[in-house]
Amino acid sequence: MSALKASITGVAAYVPPHKLTNAMLEQMVDTSDEWIVSRTGIHERRILKEKNLATSDMGAEAVNQLLEKRGIDPKEIDLLICATVTPDMPFPATANLITDKCGLTNAFGYDLGAACSGFLFALETGRRFIESGAYKKVIIVGADTMSSIINYSDRNTCIIFGDGAGAVLLEPSEDPTIGIQDSILKSDGSGVNYLHQKAGGSLNPASKETVEQNLHCVYQEGKQVFKFAVSGMAGACQDILEKNELSAEDIDWLVPHQANLRIIEAARQRINLAPEKVMLNLHKYGNTTAGTLPLCLAEWEDQLKKGDKLILTTFGGGFTWGSMYLTWGYSK
Ligand code: UT7
Repeated sequence: MSALKASITGVAAYVPPHKLTNAMLEQMVDTSDEWIVSRTGIHERRILKEKNLATSDMGAEAVNQLLEKRGIDPKEIDLLICATVTPDMPFPATANLITDKCGLTNAFGYDLGAACSGFLFALETGRRFIESGAYKKVIIVGADTMSSIINYSDRNTCIIFGDGAGAVLLEPSEDPTIGIQDSILKSDGSGVNYLHQKAGGSLNPASKETVEQNLHCVYQEGKQVFKFAVSGMAGACQDILEKNELSAEDIDWLVPHQANLRIIEAARQRINLAPEKVMLNLHKYGNTTAGTLPLCLAEWEDQLKKGDKLILTTFGGGFTWGSMYLTWGYSK
């Protein structure tokens, strides 16, 4: 095992100002505030409305804030990985655009696509670069402009998703009790049919027909995804506790992917964790895909203390899912 641990030493997030409330959705599709709140827990989401702004702009906002908070020169950053399924364009990578916008002139960057698990998978990747000793300062961004791939006449999907971005800094920790301790990450491509974007890739390149049929938008069979999400996320939480001989009392915070309050509640109950230990902000932001975990960490940063034990967990398209056990790197 590596002597070095990778520790989160800063976090920041950005959500666009425009709010899309349940009342506004009631005017757009056949739904109700009561249905959305009782089935998902979501009250409103943020939407990136401004023309000419995209995922890299939200990512850059979060990264600039992070660097400013930590007083770090952008030139010190070695690597930036951006987890997203809504890149500004197929190429170049959104990570490259963020490094340029933030002046990270000594960093290389690339994108990682694992849908709602993207941030967790990218965190695992960044962790290994730090543990190997190759790099000292790695930024992991989770950012998605879901509004760019949502069909706002499809009530199955438009009620869930929102836009947002977050970023964390990873640095080496000499203290083995601080930093990322363990992870369990899974993917199963046989879940593709339940949650995907039908067109715009090499299988179905963009055409007049694909646009007319809204095939560039998210397609989801919610009920099926829900079932897999409950067993995947709850199982991943239980497994990581058992693997590390932890009980619910040892855990300070659960940081779950914010897709549906009922999925989060199932995971919490599986590990018998007290409700007040769960980070929840989906009522304000909905499901921001790769943005959900860093949006939570940024919001709870002031309450986190050095050494706090956190379980991060996700489930998303792919299917992709997993959990991570880490101890927090600093007190504010
Ligand atoms: O983050 C990536 C992974 N994604 C997820 O984790 C999402 C997982 N899935 C879900 O969160 C839920 O399945 C949804 C929120 C998408 C849907 O909730 P549900 O409780 O599974 O509803 P359902 O799809 O089973 O539909 C139940 C009923 C249906 O009516 P009938 O057939 O019972 O008459 C739907 O037509 O609710 C209807 N319905 C709606 N009604 C009002 C579906 N969407 C809506 C809506 N407003 N927006």
